[in-house]
Amino acid sequence: MIKIPKIETERALITVLTPDDAHLINAYYIENKEHLAPFEPERTSEFYSVNQWKARLLKSFSAYKCGVSVCLAALTHDRKKMLAACNFTGIVRGPFNACYLGYSVGRTYEGKGLMFEIASASIKYMFETVKIHRIMANHMPDNHRSAKLLQRLGFEREGFARLYLKINGEWRDHVLNSLINPDPDL
Ligand SMILES: CC(C)(COP(=O)(O)OP(=O)(O)OC[C@H]1O[C@@H](n2cnc3c(N)ncnc32)[C@H](O)[C@@H]1OP(=O)(O)O)[C@@H](O)C(=O)NCCC(=O)NCCS
Repeated sequence: MIKIPKIETERALITVLTPDDAHLINAYYIENKEHLAPFEPERTSEFYSVNQWKARLLKSFSAYKCGVSVCLAALTHDRKKMLAACNFTGIVRGPFNACYLGYSVGRTYEGKGLMFEIASASIKYMFETVKIHRIMANHMPDNHRSAKLLQRLGFEREGFARLYLKINGEWRDHVLNSLINPDPDL
């Protein structure tokens, strides 16, 4: 049986969702539609459906089982509401041993240090349990909240990529950052 992570922080329970949790993630994206639109790919109306989320969670759970991604959701301790997403994707092993990180926190929880709490615990899990060497996280130059969060988490700026991701329908430049696992024995 594959072990599902259950990471407890002061304000959240961080875990990998299964298709049975589709209603939680669907509610998160509906509630935060306008908040997230400037920072995420363009979404069609089909994106906001429990059935679509069941299908997406089936895929992401199987990607978790195969070891190619760890898409974490932060829930309230009673598991009634999703607070934030912290997705580690594109895991490549071998001499690279790296992945990408993408994240968001619900609009009503922004500016409270909650994303920092969740991202810190999630990164600790990726370094200590999944044993990833490098986590890469990129942000648009004018996403100052994201830049500040990455700085506080210890990420280092490594470069700048022109027209890097299609965000909200437009190719956008991004600042490239990484955090390296401090474990010298890895
Ligand atoms: C990027 C994003 C996740 C940052 O979230 P955030 O809430 O600003 O991040 P943090 O959890 O680090 O909170 C920091 C703020 O909480 C405040 N804070 C309050 N209590 C705190 C506590 N106990 N501990 C730490 N910080 C605390 C800090 O002072 C800081 O406030 P400031 O923004 O006024 O300077 C959020 O803005 C978001 O979801 N944006 C939309 C999606 C997005 O941009 N994703 C990233 C794409 S690259």
